[in-house]
Order: sequence, then C-alpha cells, then structure tokens
Amino acid sequence: MESGLERKRGRRKLIMAVILAVIVVVVIAIILAVVLSRRDDDFKREFMGRCQKFKGANCQTIWDAFQQAYINKDHCEVLPEAYDPVIAAAPMESACNRLMFWSKTKDVVHEFTGKKDCFRTVEDSLLGSVLDDLVWCGKKGSNETFTTGCPGWKGCVKSPVRSFWNRISAAFGDSACGNVTVMLNGSLQTPFHNESIFASIEVKRFTSPKVKALNVVLVTPENFVTNCTNASLQNLKMGLDEGIGYGCSEVPDSQLEACASDPEKPCGACW
Ligand SMILES: *[C@@H]1O[C@H](CO)[C@@H](O)[C@H](O)[C@H]1NC(C)=O
Ligand SMILES: *[C@@H]1O[C@H](CO)[C@@H](O)[C@H](O)[C@H]1NC(C)=O
Ligand SMILES: *[C@@H]1O[C@H](CO)[C@@H](O)[C@H](O)[C@H]1NC(C)=O
Ligand SMILES: *[C@@H]1O[C@H](CO)[C@@H](O)[C@H](O)[C@H]1NC(C)=O
Ligand SMILES: *[C@@H]1O[C@H](CO)[C@@H](O)[C@H](O)[C@H]1NC(C)=O
Ligand SMILES: *[C@@H]1O[C@H](CO)[C@@H](O)[C@H](O)[C@H]1NC(C)=O
Repeated sequence: MESGLERKRGRRKLIMAVILAVIVVVVIAIILAVVLSRRDDDFKREFMGRCQKFKGANCQTIWDAFQQAYINKDHCEVLPEAYDPVIAAAPMESACNRLMFWSKTKDVVHEFTGKKDCFRTVEDSLLGSVLDDLVWCGKKGSNETFTTGCPGWKGCVKSPVRSFWNRISAAFGDSACGNVTVMLNGSLQTPFHNESIFASIEVKRFTSPKVKALNVVLVTPENFVTNCTNASLQNLKMGLDEGIGYGCSEVPDSQLEACASDPEKPCGACW
C-alpha cells in the first residue's frame, strides 16, 4: 500500500515536471517568434515610414519590387541587377548642377546638404533615404526579410546591402547632368581611391555632353595631408570622359560650416 502510494506520487510529480517543461519551452518559442517577427515587421515599418515622407510615392509597389531582389535567396547571391525593378519603380529625379557625390566624407556632406538645400546626395533620393544605414537579407526557402545574421557591406561581394548600394550608385551616376560636385577627404593619402564606389561606379557613368564639368571639393582640416595636386586626383581628371571639365578646390571644413549656416551665400559659392 505504502510503496504503491509513493510510486503514484512519484509518477504524478514526474508528469507535472514534464508538463511544466513543455509549457516553458512553448512559452520561450512563442516569445522568440514574436520578437523575431516583430523585428522583420520593424524593417518594413521603417521602410514604409521613410518612404511615405516622399509625397506621391507608391510605397507598397516600391516595397514589393524591393523585396523581390533578395527574398528566397542565399545571403551572398544577390547581384546588383536584382534591384533593377525597384530602381525602375522609384526612378532617380534628375537635378542638373545639383548632384553631390562623396567618398569618405559622409558626415560632413550631409551636415552641409542638410543646412543648404542646394545639393542632392544619393541619400536624399527616395530609395537612398529609405535604406540609408539599414541592413537586410533574405534566406533560401523563406519569403521573409531578416535584419540579423545578414552580411553587411564587407560580409561578401554579392551581399544584399552592398549590391543595393552598387546598383543605386550606378543609377545616381547615370542621372548626373550639368556640373556635378564631389566632396573628397583631404585627410587621406589617396582621396580618389580606385576601390571606392565613386571611382569604380559613379564616375564611370558621367558622359559628355550631358555632364559638363566635375568640381572636386577637397575637404581639408587644419593639418591636411593631401592637396589638389595629388596624383590620385590627376588620375580622376585624366579618366573623365573627354569633354568633361574639371576643377578642384581645397576647402577647410571650418569654411564649409560657416558657409552652410550663411543664408546669404548662394549655391556653390562656398568654394
Ligand atoms: C576623413 O577621413 C578621416 C579618416 O578616415 C576621418 O577621420 C575624417 O572625419 C574624414 N573627414 C571628413 C571631412 O569626413
Ligand atoms: C510567403 O509565402 C506564403 C506561402 O507561399 C504566402 O502565403 C505568404 O503570403 C508569403 N508572404 C509574403 C510576405 O510574400
Ligand atoms: C559649370 O562649370 C563650368 C566650368 O567649371 C562653368 O564655367 C559654368 O558656369 C558652370 N555652370 C553652372 C550652371 O554652374
Ligand atoms: C588606380 O587606377 C589607375 C588607372 O587605372 C592606375 O593608374 C592606378 O595605379 C591605380 N591605383 C591604385 C592604387 O590601384
Ligand atoms: C601640395 O602638396 C605637395 C606635396 O604633396 C607640395 O609639394 C605642394 O607644394 C603642395 N601645393 C600646394 C599648392 O599647397
Ligand atoms: C597622392 O596620390 C598617390 C596615389 O595616386 C599616393 O600614393 C600618394 O601617397 C598621395 N598622397 C600624397 C600626400 O602624396
């Protein structure tokens, strides 16, 4: 009698423990699923929120075209051309004489263009502004968007993020017309670097007579390293399509700051 009762109690305890364990596992799984799916939803919400700041944009169509580029694909198998449909869905506005390119000067450029509404960077375009600083990828066998475990810029050559920026930079370069400006970094030994997006993609899209001239603004701090005579800048000049003019100005960052805040200065008069 005694031992039978004890065995029954023991078994009941065991069953209770198993049930408890199952409940814990289920709860953890639910929490994980909610957290992970919320993260994916967050990406779409961020995308749509930024997109809707552009009046008249058909953001749902743009989102659908965007997703097609990387959904259900391996992390490192997304080619720049995969983004052709989304580039077509949200074409670059042409803005002659106002396009601003940059390489290794992102913060200074945006501080400047943020204060002075004269120039447009790729991050001011719809797609550029929607995806600036975001990371995303898909996965083979899934139609979801992920934001964790994705290869970023340096993860692999055909990463969804890198291919996107390569593709949109080509579109941005194609849209160049009139006089274009590029801000390069005078603190670097080689301000015009072959492997930069500007050198390897954008500048190659400038064609004469659509593009009239390229103005280099070499942003120089107090003790700058390079000036406009640098050989890499000579390479830039020599590599331009025939007929495109070239100019280079060394501009202290203090001068940029002062000029950006001066409402009297017209566009382009800061150097
Ligand atoms: C130029 O590059 C240096 C080194 O990467 C960086 O510290 C500096 O902020 C850059 N200058 C500008 C104007 O962006
Ligand atoms: C993902 O695929 C499922 C099944 O094919 C489908 O029902 C669902 O609508 C798809 N979701 C998206 C976001 O495309
Ligand atoms: C474009 O640049 C050229 C040469 O640098 C200059 O002569 C011309 O006035 C500029 N045009 C505009 C619209 O800024
Ligand atoms: C960059 O490309 C130019 C022209 O192709 C070449 O002359 C130069 O040596 C290259 N520079 C580097 C650092 O690779
Ligand atoms: C530019 O830099 C070179 C050395 O890199 C120097 O010899 C030259 O005098 C400088 N030119 C100007 C105008 O500062
Ligand atoms: C100028 O450009 C060349 C590469 O084109 C580089 O090797 C050199 O170090 C650069 N900078 C200076 C300060 O000379």
